[in-house]
Amino acid sequence: MGKGSRGAGDLPVAPSSDRFGMRQSLMPLDYPDPELTSDLIRLRKWTYNDLPCVEAAGTDPKIPQGTTVPPLYTEEEGRAFIERQWGRQIGGQGLSMAVADAGTNEAKGLVFLGLGRIRGHCRLGYWLIPAARRQGLGTDAIGLASRWVLTATDVHRLVAEVEPSNVGSLALLRKCGFTEEGLLRSWLWIEDELFDATQFSLLRTDLM
Ligand SMILES: CC(C)(COP(=O)(O)OP(=O)(O)OC[C@H]1O[C@@H](n2cnc3c(N)ncnc32)[C@H](O)[C@@H]1OP(=O)(O)O)[C@@H](O)C(=O)NCCC(=O)NCCS
Repeated sequence: MGKGSRGAGDLPVAPSSDRFGMRQSLMPLDYPDPELTSDLIRLRKWTYNDLPCVEAAGTDPKIPQGTTVPPLYTEEEGRAFIERQWGRQIGGQGLSMAVADAGTNEAKGLVFLGLGRIRGHCRLGYWLIPAARRQGLGTDAIGLASRWVLTATDVHRLVAEVEPSNVGSLALLRKCGFTEEGLLRSWLWIEDELFDATQFSLLRTDLM
């Protein structure tokens, strides 16, 4: 296990917090060690070699709308995107990992675990470049990342918010065992417009 991460049975004593658990998460997430792998993918730290993946992600207009992927790719913007991914971990906001092909190591997508202000809560984000979809990579990426964060860190509740019209994302979360909790009305800001979101969760106890 990497420096700064810990097993579920090795939790630090919680510092004082109010009765709603509202305080910054205890510890930043570190990259999983050993790396999370399946037959199809590995989840790893972003590198500057991943610029083609950032460029390809920007060709699906939906991705730049909901993320910081540059809509108009330049090498400078691509490098800045990758540096922002490193910064998530360094700044304690969470962990952004590249979803890379297990054989070639080529980056095909992203999975993000974002720490919330409530103790033990985490938000999930993900995308795959268009050419890598419908091949099971999303299932493996979400399966690996969610199981790891709920069992190897002090996160106990992982949530994902999805536009109700995003059938691929809804299918992916259901396949990965997430429970639909309900509709959050006027919840998501996408380019100055408000959208409803369907909220899903996966709990540590769901894995037992
Ligand atoms: C959502 C996304 C990550 C799915 O990843 P993926 O690798 O294509 O998903 P998988 O191949 O693992 O498929 C998982 C399940 O979802 C289903 N599915 C995936 N895309 C689908 C689609 N567009 N329509 C219907 N079902 C779909 C698959 O059939 C599979 O179910 P099955 O095994 O029962 O057939 C991908 O489409 C994507 O990156 N979309 C754009 C970004 C995005 O929407 N991100 C999420 C924001 S909340």
